Amino acid sequence: MVEVRPSGSALGADIVGVDLSRPLTSAEFGAIHGAWMDHLVLRFREQRLTDDALMAFSRDFGGLDGNPRHAKAEGRTEANPNAGFVNIISNVVENGRAIGGLGNYESKWHTDMSYNQVPPMASALYALEVPPSGGDTGFCNMYTALESLPAETRARINGLSCVHDSSLNSVGQLRVGFEDVTDPRKTPGAVHPLVRTHPVTGRQCLFLGRRRNAFIQGLELADSEALLDALWAHATRPEHCWTQQWHVGDLVLWDNRCALHRRDEFDGTARRVMHRTQISGDRPF
Ligand code: OGA
Ligand code: MN
Repeated sequence: MVEVRPSGSALGADIVGVDLSRPLTSAEFGAIHGAWMDHLVLRFREQRLTDDALMAFSRDFGGLDGNPRHAKAEGRTEANPNAGFVNIISNVVENGRAIGGLGNYESKWHTDMSYNQVPPMASALYALEVPPSGGDTGFCNMYTALESLPAETRARINGLSCVHDSSLNSVGQLRVGFEDVTDPRKTPGAVHPLVRTHPVTGRQCLFLGRRRNAFIQGLELADSEALLDALWAHATRPEHCWTQQWHVGDLVLWDNRCALHRRDEFDGTARRVMHRTQISGDRPF
């Protein structure tokens, strides 16, 4: 029996009573998918997953997207045999090379890989090793962010589009093959509507991606900056958010179409090892 326990905040729910190392029945999958549409972020505790099991669970939702491009500064190894589809998020360094991305840094609010024309609908992040404190992951609800905007702002952003920067990762490191952008009007990356319609729920939500290097097409730079600052400040207000504190064995599945996420920094002498898949989506509209 799948039991859904909502966090009580603007998003997030625990799913209790499923072992994700085994194939889900269609009834279980239906219950999980329904809860995911309602709560945007699901947490499954006390799981024991191989990469194969993580990929199999992810594939119940859709195909897998390949990993994002590494940052140059990470100096990462490709030791993981599943490296094409399982992205290691870790600060651990072995034999002088990082086993994963993002180090122990704070990661600012973002949507995974929204710089692609067809970004992943979801990410699934599984905790293998966690530090004693720090490294919490916050999520925010972009439906409530949109619905609570002042009416005049909502009217103003309707029909506007924004570029989603592909040059930097979520901790601000330059990706391999990119140059530093100093003028947001020249940002490389996909252009998406600021207000999108979720293809499953049919509900509208804000779609922001990442703040740095964002630019709203057709506006003066100063106007774009001011409007983006206002939208980001509003969207990430605490009443739209919920924070995950990790335990080993937690799997968290989030919907990149309607939720932002961020991460706290943590003590670099502690180990944190997470494995992530990214599940293919549709072009935002
Ligand atoms: C990610 C990410 C958050 C974390 O994997 O996409 O942003 O908690 N990581 O490491
Ligand atoms: Mn991310």
